[in-house]
Amino acid sequence: MASGLDRATKLTCKNVWKVYGPQADSFFTDGNGQVDDPDRIVAQVRESGHIGAACDVSFDVHEGEIFIIMGLSGSGKSTIVRCLSRLVEPTAGEVILDGENLLKVSKEKLIDIRRHKMGMVFQNFGLLPHLSVLENVAFPLQVQGIDRAERVRRAMEMIELVGLNGRETSYPRQLSGGQQQRVGIARSLAVEPELWFLDEPFSALDPLIRRQMQDEFLRLQKMLHKTIVFITHDFLEALRLADRIAIMKDGRVVQIGTPAEVVMKPADAYVEEFTQDVPRVKVITAGDIMSSAGRPLEGAKAVSTQTTLEQLMPRFGEGLDAIAVTNESGTVVGHVTPQAVLSALASAHEEGSAL
Ligand SMILES: Nc1ncnc2c1ncn2[C@@H]1O[C@H](COP(=O)(O)OP(=O)(O)O)[C@@H](O)[C@H]1O
Ligand SMILES: [Mg+2]
Repeated sequence: MASGLDRATKLTCKNVWKVYGPQADSFFTDGNGQVDDPDRIVAQVRESGHIGAACDVSFDVHEGEIFIIMGLSGSGKSTIVRCLSRLVEPTAGEVILDGENLLKVSKEKLIDIRRHKMGMVFQNFGLLPHLSVLENVAFPLQVQGIDRAERVRRAMEMIELVGLNGRETSYPRQLSGGQQQRVGIARSLAVEPELWFLDEPFSALDPLIRRQMQDEFLRLQKMLHKTIVFITHDFLEALRLADRIAIMKDGRVVQIGTPAEVVMKPADAYVEEFTQDVPRVKVITAGDIMSSAGRPLEGAKAVSTQTTLEQLMPRFGEGLDAIAVTNESGTVVGHVTPQAVLSALASAHEEGSAL
C-alpha cells in the first residue's frame, strides 16, 4: 500500500488557505501563506465572522500515488481539491506542479495545464445531457482542437476501458448512476491527464455499485499509474483505495499517513473515532510490520508487501518462524515474524478496537 512513498513528488500543496468573507486577504501579509502562528490566524478568521474553508493545508502527492483526502462534510475537501487546479483561487499559499507554482502562472497557461494535464471527476457526474456517451467522452478532445476521427478513436478506446462498449449512442438519462459515472471517468481520462482529481466520485452510488466502482478504479490505476487526488467522506473507502490518506477537520489537515499508520496511530480523538470499527487485520499488511534487517530468506514461501495480517496469520500455522516478504517485482525486501504480527494486534487491542 505504501507504494507511493518512494516516488518523486508530482504536486505540492504548501500552506494553502481559502478564507471566505469581506476581508479575506487581510489575514495575510504575504501571499505564500506562511504565518508565524496558524492557530492564531484560524481563531481570528473565525472570530471576525470569516469562513476558513481551508487553513494552512500542506501535503505532497507522489508520482503514481493514490492520495486520499478524507473528512466529514464541510471539512474543506472540495475547497482544497479545487484550489489545486485553481477552480477556487486560494487566498494564500503555493501549489507546485512539476516544480512550477500554479498560483503564479497566467490564466492562459493555467487553462492549458488544466486541459492537457488534469482530469476531473465529480460526485454529480457533470455530464452534458444533450450529448451522447461518445460525444460526452470526446468533448474535452474537441476543446483541445483534436480532429474528429482522432476524437472518436480515443473516445471509443476510453469507453472500452470503462466497460461501456455498445452504449456509445445512449444519452446520460438512459444510463444508471454507475454507468453515468463510468462516462464521467472515461471523459476525464480521454485527455490522458497526468493528474487525476476525483471529488467523491462514488458517493452518490448504492453501496454495492460503489464497491464495484472501487474495484474498477483500482483496476484502471494498475494499468494507468496516474497521480491521483481522491476525495471521500467514507473512511473505509479511503482505507481500501489509498496509498496515503490526509484527514481533514474544519479546514485543517489533522493527520497524513498510510492506511495502517492512520489505523494504528490515530493522531487525535477525531481520527480515532473513524478507526473504532475498522477490522485491523484487514488493513495492516506484511509491508507495514516487516523487518528488513537480518538473514535473507528463500522466496518460496514468500508473501507480498500487500498481504494483510488476516491472510498472513494462517501461514504461521505451518511451523514457520519467519516468512519472506517480496515487493511488486518479486525481490525479497524483508521478513515478518509471528512476534511482529502479535505486537501489531496487541497495540490494536490496547486502543480498544474490535478485531
Ligand atoms: N463559496 C463559498 N462561500 C462561503 N463559504 C463556502 C463557500 N464554499 C464552501 N464554503 C464553506 O467552506 C467549508 C468547506 O466546504 P467544502 O470544501 O465544500 O467541504 P467538503 O467538500 O469537505 O464537504 C464549508 O463550511 C462551506 O460551507
Ligand atoms: Mg465536497
